[in-house]
Amino acid sequence: MSMYSYEVAKGHGLPHNPFKAVVAPRPIGWISSRAANGSLNLAPYSFFNAVCDTPPIVVFSSSGYKDSVANIDETGDFVFNLATEDLKDAMNTSSAPFDKGVSEFEKAGLTPQDSLLVGAPRVAEAKAALECKHLQTIRLTAHDGTPTNNWMVLGEVVAVHLDEAMLVDGLFDVTKARPLSRLGYMDYAVVDSVFQMRRPKA
Ligand SMILES: Cc1cc2nc3c(=O)[nH]c(=O)nc-3n(C[C@H](O)[C@H](O)[C@H](O)COP(=O)(O)O)c2cc1C
Repeated sequence: MSMYSYEVAKGHGLPHNPFKAVVAPRPIGWISSRAANGSLNLAPYSFFNAVCDTPPIVVFSSSGYKDSVANIDETGDFVFNLATEDLKDAMNTSSAPFDKGVSEFEKAGLTPQDSLLVGAPRVAEAKAALECKHLQTIRLTAHDGTPTNNWMVLGEVVAVHLDEAMLVDGLFDVTKARPLSRLGYMDYAVVDSVFQMRRPKA
């Protein structure tokens, strides 16, 4: 195999940075939050993932101290909404840089639905949603100790919502829900097929 290799500090030398094309697919955390003054916010974050399951904890990272982070720091909770293929345009609309007081729910034609346990509303149209209590916001530092302008938010999932139409024999069927994932560049993928593997025994 012939490898194209580069040191990050010296630049990639390609037409576009390949980093996010390599760390792909990434789930999209479609994060709804509420500011202290009550205004609503919704934005997609593909630096997002689940990091453990007992208790269930999710993380997203903001490149700059964006409104979602500010709201969560202010009010202490947020909701992960599942971005599926049917909601791709609404998801994309919600990523526009609207002012802090502007509700992306309204701009994207989505319905805020009261949550069970947290103050932030969920997206009523989303086929799954996770209500999260804020745990920590961590400002990331580079390897030389320099503070970066990246803010990592951790939240514990305290309530789960699943569209019953996506449940087949009690299992959440992703081939029905068709979640979006983010790749590099302007690329996305849809999860539309699955296969099973069993872990080997020792
Ligand atoms: C699919 C997708 C994924 C995104 N992922 C991130 C991300 O991981 N981190 C980030 O800072 N911005 C990300 N953005 C951009 C934010 O959604 C955008 O800056 C948005 O305006 C932030 O909203 P807020 O200021 O209301 O939180 C993403 C945009 C899209 C369309």
